Formats: sequence, structure tokens, C-alpha cells
Amino acid sequence: MTLTDTSAAPVRVPSARTVLMCRPTHFTVVYRINPWMDPALPTDTALAVRQWETLYQTYLDLGFDVKLVDPVVGLPDMVYAANGGFVLDGIAYGASFTHPERQPEGPAYMDWFRGAGFDVREPANINEGEGDFLLVGDVILAGTGFRSASDSHAELADIFGRPVITLELVNPSFYHLDTAIAVLDERNIAYLPSAFSAVSLAILEQRYPDAILVTETDAAFLGLNSFSDGYNVVIAARATDFERQLRENGYNPIGVDLSELLLGGGGVKCCTLELRS
Ligand code: ARG
Repeated sequence: MTLTDTSAAPVRVPSARTVLMCRPTHFTVVYRINPWMDPALPTDTALAVRQWETLYQTYLDLGFDVKLVDPVVGLPDMVYAANGGFVLDGIAYGASFTHPERQPEGPAYMDWFRGAGFDVREPANINEGEGDFLLVGDVILAGTGFRSASDSHAELADIFGRPVITLELVNPSFYHLDTAIAVLDERNIAYLPSAFSAVSLAILEQRYPDAILVTETDAAFLGLNSFSDGYNVVIAARATDFERQLRENGYNPIGVDLSELLLGGGGVKCCTLELRS
């Protein structure tokens, strides 16, 4: 943008990111723990890997430092690294999964955090990591309703010493907070209003009056399940209205197709865990 530029969109500034990902080597849908999953439908693991590689390469092209955790046989959902924990200030708050099928992922991710030198805190309450906990500036937005127990929100506040805002999810298709809210930068978010209880929606409206409100259609492609570096926002390619809204607001949307991973109920953000040292 130059001094003579008259466009209204604010200047957005990207910042360096370090993320953890898990290649979907063992991805398939053999159980149903969210409405997106249907074990009767075929999945194509090779295609899932190719689509995931595109996301991985997109992050490398953006200059991100991308770490990889080894996939474990028998844990098909491990590709959704966002659920592996919540990492801030060099502290990794471990995950404790709601469903037995995913419970072994908690220790697997905590082992990786320990090996990488993070201060690991074993969770006392059910929580699914960054799937339900989103840092916006200095505040942690924390989801509950389907997966993370509200008791984990108090644990989170205690460990990280940050304000934690509880938000209640009400639509089973948007069962993790990162399917209903996209964090765009330290101040701005996008969200799907109908995914929240009336009380939680009022909190969002009050705290984020300038938020981007996405369409039901884009949310149904898991368009909100995106990852932003403050300027570049990696989103589901099919969320075209959200793409336009982001552009109008000065962001640079980058679409990727993760259709195969959508069969497990996850998108861009689900495959991405931010590591903040
Ligand atoms: N099949 C996984 C589950 O239901 C998908 C997790 C998606 N992850 C996310 N961060 N929203 O747990």
C-alpha cells in the first residue's frame, strides 16, 4: 500500500509462525464421533496424504517453521494435530480426549512436546487442545458443549495466567471452537453466529463488533477452520464468500482443498497446532 492508495482495507502484517503437523499416513474413517464421519463411506488415504502435502507446502512457502510428529498406527485422527494440546509461553497443556478412540493421542502428543523441550502439563480435565482453545491477542477463547469440559477452562486460566472466555457451542456439526471461529490476527476474528448459545453469541458481539460473519454455506465447508499469520489466511478453497470477505478486509486468503480430511470432520486448522515459545 502506498501513500496515494485510497482503498479502505487496513494494512495487515504477517508474523512468523511455528506449527506442528502430522502426516495422515494412517487416516481413514472407522468410527463416528462427529456428524461428518460415516464409516460406511470409502476414504482414500493416498489422496488425503496428497492434499495434506499441499497444506504442508503452503506453510513452507509462507516461511513457517513446520515441525512433524510421527503418525501412530491405529490412530487415524492423529492428523488433526490441533487437538494434540495447547502451547503458549513454552508450556504445553496436554490433551485429554472425550472419546476413547482418540485417548491414546494425548500421551503421544505429550511425548513429542517433551522431546521438543516444552514444559508439559498433564491435564486434569477433558480437553481437546487448540481445537477448543484459541488465542486472540492476550485472551484465550475456550469452547465447550461437545468436547472440552468447562473445568478445563479454569485449568487453562491457572496455567497460562491469561483471561479465558468460555463460549458454548450448540450445533453438533461445529463441535470444536475452531470449526466455528477463525482467528485472523491479534484483534480480529470471523465466526458463525448460529454455532453459539445466545449468551455466548452476546459475548462475541460485544467483544468483536467488527468480526466477519460467515455464511452457513462456507461454514459447512469448514471454511472457518483456517489458519492465519496475520495477513495470509489459509482456508478451505470452497469457502468462496469467506475468501471475498477476507480480501475486502485486507487479508490474503489462500485456498487449499482438504476434501478427504473433511470426511473425518476436519479442515485446515484441525491439521495445524501452533507452537508458541
Ligand atoms: N475426527 C476428529 C474428531 O472428531 C476430527 C477433529 C477435528 N479437529 C479440530 N481441531 N476441529 O475428533
